[in-house]
Amino acid sequence: MTDKKVLIEQAKNILKRNDVDGYTVPTHDLYPFQWNWDAAITALGWMKVDESRAWLEIEMLLKGQWENGMVPHIIFHKPVDTYFPGPDVWGVKNDIPTTAISQPPVLVSVVKMMSEQATDKGLAESKLAEMLPKLIAYHQWWYNDRDPENTGLVVSYHPWESGMDNSPAWDESLAAVPPVNYTYKRKDLDHVDSDERPHAEQYDRYLYLVDFFKNSNFDSEVIYKNCPYKVYDLGIISILHKATKDLIYLCKQSNTNEQEVTWFNEQLALTEKGINTLWSNEHNSFLNKDVITQKLSPVLTTGTMLVIYAELASAEQMNALKPLLNEWLNETKYCMSSTYAKCEAFEPQRYWRGPVWLHINWMIALGADSYGLSEESAKLKSDSEELLTKFGYFEYFNSETGVGCGGDDFSWTAAIALHWFL
Ligand code: DGY
Repeated sequence: MTDKKVLIEQAKNILKRNDVDGYTVPTHDLYPFQWNWDAAITALGWMKVDESRAWLEIEMLLKGQWENGMVPHIIFHKPVDTYFPGPDVWGVKNDIPTTAISQPPVLVSVVKMMSEQATDKGLAESKLAEMLPKLIAYHQWWYNDRDPENTGLVVSYHPWESGMDNSPAWDESLAAVPPVNYTYKRKDLDHVDSDERPHAEQYDRYLYLVDFFKNSNFDSEVIYKNCPYKVYDLGIISILHKATKDLIYLCKQSNTNEQEVTWFNEQLALTEKGINTLWSNEHNSFLNKDVITQKLSPVLTTGTMLVIYAELASAEQMNALKPLLNEWLNETKYCMSSTYAKCEAFEPQRYWRGPVWLHINWMIALGADSYGLSEESAKLKSDSEELLTKFGYFEYFNSETGVGCGGDDFSWTAAIALHWFL
């Protein structure tokens, strides 16, 4: 077998090994349930193995959807004791226990790609018809629940919701959250080196927020008013924007939901305006913002570059972003470091403070393509391929050495490799 064939077989086997009765764990032990954006990305990989299994991944994720439309960040389909905090800590009493926050909503964009790629068009059409009302409800929830004042920018309540848990962009906002005053046992450190994971001070505050949601009875209005952590996260805002465009496309294609399409177009227009409030002339870039203090975070993270994935940058903004993107891609041995290496907070191996994530490279490459930046897009792809080939199917990669970090045999790394370059 050629090297490429071996890599393809390995990727397929990872998905099969991580399959638990119809949903895929990101990796066993460290993340033993179904995660929201992991599931979406993983479904793209399943499309190369078994299309009906790919649709099932999305169906299983939607089983955890709340009545108000929210699709949670973790669905605890069945009990496993290798992860903390589990369903008892979150305290959500639905038939299938879940967390009380969501995650970057790449889901609809993936469903659109799946329906385009499907060789079994009949299956794709029937799955899409079943799912569309749920996907619409999910996006309605984002705008209604998280942007009740129609700013065009949805607010995020937890670093875990960003998917970029310990990004330095959240440091200041998280430091303002009180720590919990009880002891608890983290389980992530049983599986991964502590220098690749968030610090204890961050976990103390992650848990405070989990308790806050529970003590607020998961009431949207109470949480919006009182949550001690509220940020405009460029990653979520951009991924949502792109996915809403894809949702409109899916609605139009099925000739349904005209009213919803009009309403979603209004939301897109609001975001196209609102995003400019996150532009900094000083940094020549978009920046994340603390909604409580109204301060922009000066740290450049890949979230800031996801704006190009959503095609939210104007021509003028792109003139400033292009040189930054180029420097960033070449600043570390492997691109694209999750934190720009010139920022003080950069750490090449610690989770979201500097390593490379292949699904983020993929999204930014799509954005680069849409602005005609083919060299930048090619560099993102070739570095991703090199990391995978040299170091294996890790959760993420040290941006200076390339060494694989976090969980091994990781589903979204296998899926992106199958979907993007293998
Ligand atoms: C974790 O537990 O580290 C996860 O990233 C939360 O989603």
